Amino acid sequence: MQLHINNATQFLAEGMIEKYEPQVKAAQQALEDGTCAGNDFLGWLHLPSSITPEFIEEINKTADILRKECDAIVVAGIGGSYLGAKAVISALDDNFTWLKPSDSPRILFAGNNISEDYLTELINYLSGVRFGIINISKSGTTTETAITFRLLKKMCEDQRGKDKAREVIVAVTDARRGAARQCADKEGYKTFVIPDNVGGRFSVLTPVGLLPIACAGYDIAQLVKGAQDMECQCDINTPFAENPAAVYAATRNALYASGKKIEILVNYQPKLHFMSEWWKQLYGESEGKQHKGIFPASVDFSTDLHSMGQWIQDGERTIFETVISVDKANTSLIVPADEENLDGLNFLAGKHIDEVNHKAEEGTRMAHIDGGVPNLQITIPSLDAYNIGQLIYFFEKGCGISGLVLGVNPFDQPGVEAYKRNMFKLLGKPGY
Ligand code: PA5
Repeated sequence: MQLHINNATQFLAEGMIEKYEPQVKAAQQALEDGTCAGNDFLGWLHLPSSITPEFIEEINKTADILRKECDAIVVAGIGGSYLGAKAVISALDDNFTWLKPSDSPRILFAGNNISEDYLTELINYLSGVRFGIINISKSGTTTETAITFRLLKKMCEDQRGKDKAREVIVAVTDARRGAARQCADKEGYKTFVIPDNVGGRFSVLTPVGLLPIACAGYDIAQLVKGAQDMECQCDINTPFAENPAAVYAATRNALYASGKKIEILVNYQPKLHFMSEWWKQLYGESEGKQHKGIFPASVDFSTDLHSMGQWIQDGERTIFETVISVDKANTSLIVPADEENLDGLNFLAGKHIDEVNHKAEEGTRMAHIDGGVPNLQITIPSLDAYNIGQLIYFFEKGCGISGLVLGVNPFDQPGVEAYKRNMFKLLGKPGY
């Protein structure tokens, strides 16, 4: 993975990024020393290098049981207990996996909304399907997830009988506290622990993400290896200019200070849509505090060039783009020649679709820079588990540093309680 910032620096006064170097260094040091705000939640910092082959083996073993016993696995979770697994699986899956016969169970996500229609339709689908459940909740009390688990647990027990159901229900939750822990202990489910010191949005490399990803059949050892290598690359001893997380944190803070209030994460691969959703949670929940913070937005190009492209080219100049650029497609497809050439496309005949996509990317970058939009670019060689692991750790480290430089606690989320209090009061929950 590489970060390129030259198309952003041209929008900043000379030396602006270097000006942030001391603050970035101080933030890195505070993370290492555990002296920063939110220092109870720094377990993600050296998480990749702490993951052992034995731990990966244990997760794979549980995944193998679920894969053997189930034709569908429902992952119940929301926010940090949902988006990481969804992002990685979407990035690695075939785009049309739903429509193809497969030896792998279908991985379904629920517990991330309160839609009656969604849950009814899920239950209808599952009624004839051998399914299992991974119930993911650190607090164990999140309403969306708990409602879903209550429904699915009963359905799974009705389908298989209580004893068999407990073989295909796994809980990923706190080591000691919360309703999900109590239920798992009482029922005798296999459990995995979400460490106390890892917050939800930084938990994709714990069993929260690793178990569903392994259930989908992907190589979690490679994912972790990518993250481990990025952990080394973003180490505090790496010189500033060679440390992508440090440079990213400095650049986005410099852009923010210069009036760029919105960062748009851009991809040119539909499979990366949910990486952007994961990234939005990571940065939005970490930095949006004390009435400050870059607003994280995202677009899927070239699709959204035909919708949001107008705004980005010509709208208010408060934005910058960070483009995830994948060097090479995993497959090969060439534009065919056509004798009649009625569509006028023979100028593309013989070219790879991926080449056309890259020219769209290059042309867009030039247009947006001309239009006054600073452009950061992150390149990865291809979409695979290793490179996605690199991206994950890069963004996590960049987020921790960036939030501290901004002057907020990047590891709490007090704002998300406000809606819950009102909802519970409106629903008559005891104590509200
Ligand atoms: O990042 C976070 O902390 C949140 O998004 C949580 O992950 C989310 O609210 C789900 O919480 P829990 O895992 O406790 O159900």
